[in-house]
Amino acid sequence: MSKKIAVIVGSLRKESYNRKIAEEMIRLSEGKLEMEIVEIADLPLYTEDLDQEPPAAWTTFREQIKGADGLLIISPEYNRTIPGALKNAVDVGSRPYGSSVWPGKPGAVVTSSISSLGGLAANHHIRQAFVFVDVPLMQQPEAYIGNSAEIFTEDGRTLKEDTAKFLTSFIDSFQQWVEKF
Ligand code: FNR
Repeated sequence: MSKKIAVIVGSLRKESYNRKIAEEMIRLSEGKLEMEIVEIADLPLYTEDLDQEPPAAWTTFREQIKGADGLLIISPEYNRTIPGALKNAVDVGSRPYGSSVWPGKPGAVVTSSISSLGGLAANHHIRQAFVFVDVPLMQQPEAYIGNSAEIFTEDGRTLKEDTAKFLTSFIDSFQQWVEKF
């Protein structure tokens, strides 16, 4: 049976390239991994003040992560670091203290940027946060997708062949990584 993967997209933008990459990776992983996007847009900002009576959106999110066998993070870089919405999701999942939903879930990180740098700085900061919450991250291959405005065909949704090929091999490696846990 395919392993269930929670896909978290770091951009909330409607026409997000990262979301489109996520949708394409879901398509490319069919028959290999059961990937589904877990939404983070409606998570109230984390504060310990709400630990006793958590917002429903926090509880739903935590349950969705608990039900997954692995995690795939696909994110842009904001000001050379992790976008706030994604960091908030990490924080929501990590609390209340002692009840984190993250530990032990095998994960992988993909970043993309409209620049040629592919979100390298954010990729490493995202890794840092997930390593701390005890997510074993796939180290290789790394995925820094540059020039994200140019990687889709005319329909604006389908990946061009070279990126699709790279991400297919990334998915194959991730499938092997997830199987180890
Ligand atoms: C950006 N962008 C950006 N790009 C980058 O390579 N390094 C960066 O530090 C930043 N910083 C940044 C901050 C903020 C607030 C925004 C809105 C954007 C540009 C970014 O790569 C571009 O907007 C992408 O298209 C965002 O990804 P989505 O929304 O298309 O998935």
